[in-house]
Amino acid sequence: MMRWPPCSCPLLGVCALVSLAILGHILLHDFDVVPQELHSFSQEEIYPARQPRASGQGPQPVPGRHGSPREAPTQCNLPPDGRFDCAPDKAITQEQCEARGCCYIPARWPPGTQMGQPWCFFPPNYPSYRLENLTTTKTGYTATLIRATPTFFPKDIMTLRLDVLVETESRLHFTIKDPTNQRYEVPLETPRVRSQAPSTLYSVEFSEEPFGVIMRRKLDGRVLLNTTVAPLFFADQFLQLSTSLPSQHITGLAEHLGPLMLSTNWTKVTLWNRDVAPTPDVNLYGSHPFYLGLEDGGLAHGVFLLNSNAMDVVLQPSPALSWRSTGGILDVYIFLGPEPKSVVRQYLDIVGYPFMPPYWGLGFHLCRWGYSSTAITRQVVENMTRAHFPLDVQWNDLDYMDARRDFTFNKDGFGDFPAMVQELHQSGRRYIMIVDPAISSTSPAGTYRPYDEGLRRGVFITNETGQPLIGQVWPGLTAFPDFTNPEALDWWQDMVAEFHAQVPFDGMWIDMNEPSNFVGGSVDGCPNSNLENPPYVPGVVGGTLRAATICASSHQFLSTHYDLHNLYGLTEAFASHRALVKARGTRPFVISRSTFAGHGQYAGHWTGDVWSSWEQLSYSVPEILLFNLLGVPLVGADICGFLGNTSEELCVRWTQLGAFYPFMRNHNGLNSLPQEPYRFSETAQQAMRKAFALRYMLLPYLYTLFHGAHVRGETVARPLFLEFPEDPRTWTVDRQLLWGEALLITPVLKAGKVEVTGYFPRSTWYDLRMVPVEAFGSLPPPAPLTSAIHSEGQWVTLSAPLDTINLHLRAGHIIPMQGPGLTTTESRKKPMALAVALTASGEARGELFWDDGESLGVLDRGAYTQVIFLARNNTIVNQLVHVSSEGAGLQLRKVTVLGVATAPQQVVCNGISVSNFTYGPDTETLDIPVSLTMGEQFLISWS
Ligand SMILES: *[C@@H]1O[C@H](CO)[C@@H](O)[C@H](O)[C@H]1NC(C)=O
Ligand SMILES: *[C@@H]1O[C@H](CO)[C@@H](O)[C@H](O)[C@H]1NC(C)=O
Ligand SMILES: *[C@@H]1O[C@H](CO)[C@@H](O)[C@H](O)[C@H]1NC(C)=O
Ligand SMILES: *[C@@H]1O[C@H](CO)[C@@H](O)[C@H](O)[C@H]1NC(C)=O
Ligand SMILES: *[C@@H]1O[C@H](CO)[C@@H](O)[C@H](O)[C@H]1NC(C)=O
Repeated sequence: MMRWPPCSCPLLGVCALVSLAILGHILLHDFDVVPQELHSFSQEEIYPARQPRASGQGPQPVPGRHGSPREAPTQCNLPPDGRFDCAPDKAITQEQCEARGCCYIPARWPPGTQMGQPWCFFPPNYPSYRLENLTTTKTGYTATLIRATPTFFPKDIMTLRLDVLVETESRLHFTIKDPTNQRYEVPLETPRVRSQAPSTLYSVEFSEEPFGVIMRRKLDGRVLLNTTVAPLFFADQFLQLSTSLPSQHITGLAEHLGPLMLSTNWTKVTLWNRDVAPTPDVNLYGSHPFYLGLEDGGLAHGVFLLNSNAMDVVLQPSPALSWRSTGGILDVYIFLGPEPKSVVRQYLDIVGYPFMPPYWGLGFHLCRWGYSSTAITRQVVENMTRAHFPLDVQWNDLDYMDARRDFTFNKDGFGDFPAMVQELHQSGRRYIMIVDPAISSTSPAGTYRPYDEGLRRGVFITNETGQPLIGQVWPGLTAFPDFTNPEALDWWQDMVAEFHAQVPFDGMWIDMNEPSNFVGGSVDGCPNSNLENPPYVPGVVGGTLRAATICASSHQFLSTHYDLHNLYGLTEAFASHRALVKARGTRPFVISRSTFAGHGQYAGHWTGDVWSSWEQLSYSVPEILLFNLLGVPLVGADICGFLGNTSEELCVRWTQLGAFYPFMRNHNGLNSLPQEPYRFSETAQQAMRKAFALRYMLLPYLYTLFHGAHVRGETVARPLFLEFPEDPRTWTVDRQLLWGEALLITPVLKAGKVEVTGYFPRSTWYDLRMVPVEAFGSLPPPAPLTSAIHSEGQWVTLSAPLDTINLHLRAGHIIPMQGPGLTTTESRKKPMALAVALTASGEARGELFWDDGESLGVLDRGAYTQVIFLARNNTIVNQLVHVSSEGAGLQLRKVTVLGVATAPQQVVCNGISVSNFTYGPDTETLDIPVSLTMGEQFLISWS
């Protein structure tokens, strides 16, 4: 069945009527619908509405306006998979198609699909641009692109300028612009490093007519990019650049719900940030026009189209990809890897490395819509503590506000709001509340400062008549701050600081920032203009750009909302990050629903209003992996689901997986059954406690991974293919995740299962239960010990009773662990342990990064401790990369070595014999109690 969003209402579970209206739009506008179950095929069924056979139904071509009707082309015998759509904009007839100079061959689309080969497609000689005056410059090439014949879109830009910049060994950058009229460009500051030496990784060629850019990998001559495959379009409101792909295996193009690897079997990804409950095949909250392509053999490349206009990205089986944007310029970066990991880093070199979160931000967060008072909120915290569940950060949804207005709190339920937050601080916890961007516009003048000040300082997005555009969100009528306006940044900062002076909150949860609007466009509608009704409307839910948001034609400081819409969440995240730095003076913590490329520099992301369903539990893994590839490592889904009711089993499994989301929050909707961990049976609670304890024990490792992301552009949660790209079986694995290089997580994602099958790439994998973590005091003794998995690259079925999430340590790695606590304030003071997973040749390596967990500028000030651990030849040593008072005194109490084949006779630590070591011959595990500090050099050996 074709899918549509079950719910278009933000935060609400039921709105079936709206969905039906949306469905109507989709049927008419968006999808290329083929009837589902056809028994015999009538002409009408085979020729669906999108490209009607009958002539005279659609608008007739107007001769001479966008080119004269042409003769029907003759070179139409192209392979179906390689046909590029000549009617992307609307359904057209054969006559209209041929009048465009295109080929028309009807075809049946596979049942159940939304798209198939186009019926109307470009012949090979369809007019495109011609390359002229190609000149070599100091940094690359420049050329002019000339189009002789207009296309079927209005306002072709007939002369373009091409600039090709060979920026680094592994990066090529080209732009195609209008040389005479400045067009909108994404205001993202990107580095401009220009290398002059030709790259050893790639070569560039140009096709003159039709114009095209061709890039090859020098190593194997493989063509990674060939934009000659379809004509280039560059009209005022329609830009299309197509390229061949070297393989079917591509990922990226967030935000969408689905497998990590995209299907090239005729699919379309639409990027136009939208408030909608996550559903496959619809545009969701964020836009990241970047893809990573895996090449046979395991090399990889990436392509980033720096463009923020509404767009579709179409994938087809030849394989090929078409970017179709509605504005801006073509600003393309190509990253040559050659490994997938390098591609990610090279992309982040352009959009920015992730921010370093505070340590407490990696603890457990708890929220629900419906904690209607401080009394209830306090009870939640008490009940968590009484049931021995960790809780680092307590949250509130809309409930705390006065009339749902930002920067207020209601004096009934939340009269002692500041005191509650202070109490949380006294117990070593933190506090975060929701903040929506839209500002209530109906309070009497002089009674609501955010609006009064906003008006006075001119910070709101304006409509056609230059007044604040008024929409409707939670508080009722609202205006929308324009975070591209520097004045709005200062105003936001003032509002945050003034509220913080009353309520000392620790972070901001920015929701509804697509921006979401309960009325289409504005309460006054939207003007009828080219921006509101562009000649090409991407496949957006609702069928129009204004659906569930503000008018595309509204005015912002930097440009129209048409251009800037997809940046709304990013700019609010930037404003909030900046405001928190000023208000609190420590590391900011911002979680945002809407995102754009580069978001990870300022904030994290949660995956929005997901249902409490097994399907959504499974989908959360590829979403988390994808955002890590996009430089937003601080990401998680609402544990146990937000919409609808969870079941106990689902909530246990979700808590187990959620313990391995980089951002771990349980959040529930207003009308759902309660789902705090303490609500469930003792059996379920025990299972959840184990998952919590594992997370808290592994936090030093997680924090170290975030440091790697922050300073080296690495990922935190990562797909297997990033570590094992040469094994193609890893490429599609998106039901398991790795933390860094070392820890493989194999969650149960299905109801009623007590076994799980996971892929284990070639290596030795040690069950983490072989590390006797009960020494930390809070876990029961390990289950019957499993021996290590020596995998040749195979699927392995593992036992996974309800209290178990399978965790495996990869041979060759050392991870730091720490005693768990009920808060990170507590756990950070506990002793540490090392788990050392030896390779067959007896080697392993690991790292610890530590600082006070919340100060700004620790790297510049040197206020951190960084230690590398090395195991080789029956010896473990630490290398002190940097030691400061923060971390120097951390106690190391235990070292567990996995993969010690022969029973040691003696163990020596810093020259002194250790008598109380233990060795398990079955598990080949050597357990060494020690009494060391991280900031001092040590050498442990056994023989
Ligand atoms: C593409 O989809 C069609 C219809 O669903 C299917 O028959 C075909 O096998 C798919 N091709 C690939 C390469 O997955
Ligand atoms: C690029 O694509 C064009 C059009 O399909 C094709 O003729 C040409 O051979 C391709 N070039 C390379 C190097 O693959
Ligand atoms: C907290 O626990 C008490 C005692 O079981 C219960 O009465 C109360 O409803 C709980 N409150 C919340 C908000 O969970
Ligand atoms: C612009 O918004 C104002 C409210 O701020 C409204 O009164 C006015 O009618 C709107 N203009 C248009 C053209 O919709
Ligand atoms: C390994 O350790 C043994 C004993 O400590 C030493 O004799 C030997 O030289 C070491 N081998 C290497 C390769 O370091």
